[in-house]
Amino acid sequence: MKMSRRGFLAVAGGTGVALTLTSCGEEAQPAQAGELLRSKAKLPAPFQVPLPIPPVKKPLRSDATTDYYRVVQRRARLEILPGLKTEVMGYDGLFPGPTFDVRSGRTTVVEQVNDLDAPTVVHLHGGHTPAPSDGWPLDMIMPASGGHAGHEMMPGGNMTTGKRTYTYPNQQRAATLWYHDHTMDYTAPQVYRGLFGAYIVRDDEEDKLPLPKGDREIPLVIADRAFDEDGSFLYPLAKDGHGVEQKYMEGVIADVTLVNGAPWPVHEVDAVRYRFRILNASNARRYELAFDKGPAKFVQIGSDGGLLDKPVDHATVVIAPAERFDVIVDFSQYQPGDEVTVVNKLDGDANVMRFRIARKAADDTRIPDTLSTYAVTPRPSGVVRREWRFRRGDAGGHKGWTINGKAFDPEVMQAQVMLGQYEIWTFVTDVHHPVHVHLAPFQVLTRGGKAKVAEFDHGWKDTVDIRPAEVVEVLVHFTDHKGKYLIHCHNLEHEDMAMMAAFETL
Ligand code: C2O
Ligand code: CU
Ligand code: CU
Repeated sequence: MKMSRRGFLAVAGGTGVALTLTSCGEEAQPAQAGELLRSKAKLPAPFQVPLPIPPVKKPLRSDATTDYYRVVQRRARLEILPGLKTEVMGYDGLFPGPTFDVRSGRTTVVEQVNDLDAPTVVHLHGGHTPAPSDGWPLDMIMPASGGHAGHEMMPGGNMTTGKRTYTYPNQQRAATLWYHDHTMDYTAPQVYRGLFGAYIVRDDEEDKLPLPKGDREIPLVIADRAFDEDGSFLYPLAKDGHGVEQKYMEGVIADVTLVNGAPWPVHEVDAVRYRFRILNASNARRYELAFDKGPAKFVQIGSDGGLLDKPVDHATVVIAPAERFDVIVDFSQYQPGDEVTVVNKLDGDANVMRFRIARKAADDTRIPDTLSTYAVTPRPSGVVRREWRFRRGDAGGHKGWTINGKAFDPEVMQAQVMLGQYEIWTFVTDVHHPVHVHLAPFQVLTRGGKAKVAEFDHGWKDTVDIRPAEVVEVLVHFTDHKGKYLIHCHNLEHEDMAMMAAFETL
């Protein structure tokens, strides 16, 4: 089997837009781009499985500047649904992978060993990473087993066999990043099977704040999945192995919500403040997270790119694939024995997870009025402007997704961007597209023509949730690292079906 280029994905025939409507929107906005995939397995009752906390990855060794790690990508059979075994492709065989907890300014070196039978690529999402370590989709780690004979060298690909070393300088602010697979044409199925994990950067500015820490600071990695009768993952790969079945080209949304790899888990909390680093690691599903009963709310302290200047209160949080919201939730007004459920309002108040208040406890944390010196950069004048149009379209003779009318071609640089220069990029959509830019975060300047920062656009973003037929302008500023980088839709089915473009920094 020859590995096809994205542009030659065999996606034949027409496609209907499968849309769920929000129950609450005044102007019935479609809530999702995606098609529901239903499990055949017997599903557990919600709130039975305790919330797992992914283990923190330990370095093999450290020196004055650098921490050295080794991760083995391998298959493992895990009990995700009680009583059934699911084969995953996981970093260290885990689902999600281990959490990296690193220091801004210290370098992380990760040796990634590919013990799978498929090529992989690792990308640190939100990382300010030199191009050779950024996870260019053709810079594949071929499996040491020599499996997948027939995969051919792709133009521009720098392949290695068995393993590859990635270097992350972490010259960036404290923030919640994540790492995940980025293999050409196969990102969606490989992330779906488990190749994703959290990566937390810390710094002194954040350490000084009186925020919840330790076991009161918890990553919540949300991902929807569907399971076959025997517990294996269901995923509608196209018959020829490239992309998804045409019916699912809008995106795969599934009927089991996993948080940190557990279905609709429950977590026992003290009646105090908690910090949750929420990551939407779903392929295509968007969530509007809400508590089923008050008074809990979300106080947002950070976004994709780290702390906001000031906290922002939200009754609900709308989170698109790949976005992160760093929030504080105060459980102090609940009584021991109370339960509060997190639901998804974009899916008829479907369950996500539950908190059970265990006991009263002391709390010396606070949410300061000023979190960070981050400031909104005034809109500069006379800067370079570029437009990026995200639309369905022809992906090399087949239906797929395009940027500026083009299917991804690793040899075509759609933009050449000077380092140090401010640029205003305009994103235009047809349906929902969560747009992601590699290398550096951006600030949202306008949404739908309005210059007031929209509710969920605060701070530094690297992924912006763009609704159907919407125009969003962002301010980008790349400061260093010359090379080839990507802009793409983070609906992973769209990405695998060519909605990606390369740009070059000079
Ligand atoms: Cu999270 Cu290019 O991706
Ligand atoms: Cu990224
Ligand atoms: Cu998209």
